[in-house]
Amino acid sequence: MSENVYPVPANVASHALIDNDTYLSMYKQSIEDPNAFWAEHGKRIDWMKPFTKVKNSSYDYHNVSIKWFEDGELNVSANCIDRHLESRGDQTAIIWEGDDPSDSENITYKQLHERVCKLANAYKELGVAKGDRVILYMPMIPEAAYAMLACARIGAIHSIVFGGFSPDALADRINGSKAKLVVTADQGLRGGRKVALKTNVNAAFEKVDHDAKILVVKRTGGDVPMTDGRDVWYDDIVGPASADCAPEPMNAEDPLFILYTSGSTGMPKGVVHSTGGYLVYASMTHQYVFDYHDGDVYWCTADVGWVTGHSYIVYGPLANGATTVMFEGVPTYPTPSRFWDVCEKHKVNIFYTAPTAIRSLMGAGKEHVEKADLSSLRILGSVGEPINPEAWKWYYEVVGKKNCPIVDTWWQTETGGIMITPLPGATALKPGSATRPFFGVQPVMLDNEGNEISETECEGILCIADSWPGQMRTVYGDHDRFVSTYFETFKGYYFAGDGARRDADGDYWITGRVDDVINVSGHRMGTAEVESALVAHPKVSEAAVVGYPHDIKGQGIYVYVTLMEGEEETEELRKELRNWVRHEIGPIASPDLIQFAPGLPKTRSGKIMRRILRKIAEDDFAALGDTSTLADPTVVEDLIDNRQNRD
Ligand code: WT7
Repeated sequence: MSENVYPVPANVASHALIDNDTYLSMYKQSIEDPNAFWAEHGKRIDWMKPFTKVKNSSYDYHNVSIKWFEDGELNVSANCIDRHLESRGDQTAIIWEGDDPSDSENITYKQLHERVCKLANAYKELGVAKGDRVILYMPMIPEAAYAMLACARIGAIHSIVFGGFSPDALADRINGSKAKLVVTADQGLRGGRKVALKTNVNAAFEKVDHDAKILVVKRTGGDVPMTDGRDVWYDDIVGPASADCAPEPMNAEDPLFILYTSGSTGMPKGVVHSTGGYLVYASMTHQYVFDYHDGDVYWCTADVGWVTGHSYIVYGPLANGATTVMFEGVPTYPTPSRFWDVCEKHKVNIFYTAPTAIRSLMGAGKEHVEKADLSSLRILGSVGEPINPEAWKWYYEVVGKKNCPIVDTWWQTETGGIMITPLPGATALKPGSATRPFFGVQPVMLDNEGNEISETECEGILCIADSWPGQMRTVYGDHDRFVSTYFETFKGYYFAGDGARRDADGDYWITGRVDDVINVSGHRMGTAEVESALVAHPKVSEAAVVGYPHDIKGQGIYVYVTLMEGEEETEELRKELRNWVRHEIGPIASPDLIQFAPGLPKTRSGKIMRRILRKIAEDDFAALGDTSTLADPTVVEDLIDNRQNRD
């Protein structure tokens, strides 16, 4: 697999920030003396009160505790805005590209400062104070970035809920964090279609169990119901607000944001990120992984509803004084040339997207790419799931014209920033490999018993041996769950949930989740969550959900349902169940294939044997393995006969 090695292109090597020797020596120092390394690199951001302590962490399962720069004070919005005003106040901070190609806006650092300060004052007027939680349920408009930064400015903790989540999911997150305020828009606009944001918020508020206000940005001007005393138009309160708002000094360990993410069991967890360590790590990875130079135009196509949008549209790039592109639309609207048209229009130098987008655009044909002038591109990035070598080569050759390194970045919501990745000027690339650890990251490969594998070339479970500054600090309101999810399975290590292969050169190849999490178009989905939505339907008695290979999405959602006695297996019911899940969780959890299963394969102790269900969903049932421990082996034949994924 690794015969295909692509050395660092000469045009990139000649002026890259980090070459291979520098990588090796910096990496060595970061592991041998993390205190000295991070004391130095912690200075890349501005501190209101300098830290004197650097790393203070324990992975001991009885006492998991993670602190970085713990006596320092800073403000994230001052780091992302104020400190650039003198040197680059008139430089564009955000290039906003609307859904409609004729709609775009450049926002300078000065303008960003004014807008964020006004919004921060409006928050205060609405009763939001330091430590309070604010939910953002926003389309990809500049106000989404203002809303994040205004929280950071006054020390409020934001929790963004992706606009594709349902009112129920939104209500859970508003209640779970006891948020005082929800910021939203009348409607979103994606691919020419309207997204009913405010209407969804109204529906969520039917289930909200405490007083909260709603701040509404007018995006489309659509007619949406407003409730007096609870709902406020953004322009009405932000317009007259003062543009003077001093940034609140925050402790390095104060939470900056909460972001819910799916796990293998139970309902989504509120991942809590810190202020100081997070910002140091997000800004440093942004600079080195993307070989970011002053003046570069940088575009990450993610949504701010995911961690990629937090770290690599807003916090990392703005902390570095970059020009960051924020895109409201979708890759295929109005045509499959859209991404490339935007690259040409804004002369994008660094482009960061997901394999699922690459695969779908690859299917549309290379003529859509070749129409655009992509000569500004220098670095390409990939994130969210393993990139298959075919998509990698297309990205490299057709988009990058063989001069742009692809940084395949492995990381997670929990890690805050990129963990395993090539560096453009240092690392020879192998299609499909995330290659080597970033500074301060110590990947280890464990066998199923939790022993570290010492051989370089091996396959195993990917864990991290020690803390890095961007690591999540806890699960919101449930530290025990943090410990049990990440530190209990393999004691003494951070368990990421992924499997990997390490080749003879020591490069890592992520092979996918080893737990019951599936990755649909780069979005994480807990199978348990979908199952619990399904069994809440009155006609469903039991459900099991697994992933199966999907050409565009990476993985699709395959559902097995056992109906209640007497219910009929109809096409309509399939549709009803699909809509039910969309309603309970959101369109991103919509099942691709639904199989009615009179019985599920279970062990004698009643445990569902997912291994068998996965194989059948993959249409690979010749090798089902040992089925002798099944309570009723005959159910398997029925499952095979009625499988939904046939070539
Ligand atoms: C999971 C984390 C990190 C931001 C987007 C997703 C998978 C992520 C890669 C990659 C192979 C990857 C892993 C990981 N993943 N990047 N470059 N190669 N797999 O964040 O929703 O927290 O999901 O995405 O399985 O555990 P997330």
